[in-house]
Amino acid sequence: MPARKTFGSTAFAAALAILLSTALADPAVAQDGKQIYNNRCALCHGTDGDGKGIIMQIAPFGADFWKANDDASISKAIVEGKGRMPAIPLSPEETKAVVEYMKANFKK
Ligand code: HEC
Repeated sequence: MPARKTFGSTAFAAALAILLSTALADPAVAQDGKQIYNNRCALCHGTDGDGKGIIMQIAPFGADFWKANDDASISKAIVEGKGRMPAIPLSPEETKAVVEYMKANFKK
């Protein structure tokens, strides 16, 4: 049934267009902090921020870390690197999303 087939692909194209426009409309939403953390940080800092990464065992984002750091210093460490921490080239929006994710999940 050619008519039905045409309808199906049109509906599919429309759904795809909606999905794409939603994803592209707001970069802050597309740049999910959790996704960025898990992709760019967890390897070294651990999924839970406990410092038990797959490739490193380092200091956790614990009480001492939160006492010594605020949004600005964490952002600086990310984009400039700090000591053995390599600079991670994130956009300001991505950096903000990661910092918010860390505060929401690792700050006790
Ligand atoms: C290649 C491994 C690696 C990756 C990837 C990495 N880090 Fe680090 N990070 C380190 C090391 C090593 C340190 C120094 C910690 C230590 O010596 O205990 C550090 C330190 C830091 C510090 C400063 C800690 C302090 O006490 O001042 C922050 C903040 C930080 N990392 C955040 C991040 C975030 C956020 C990401 C992801 C965007 C990330 N790191 C990705 C290895 C890494």
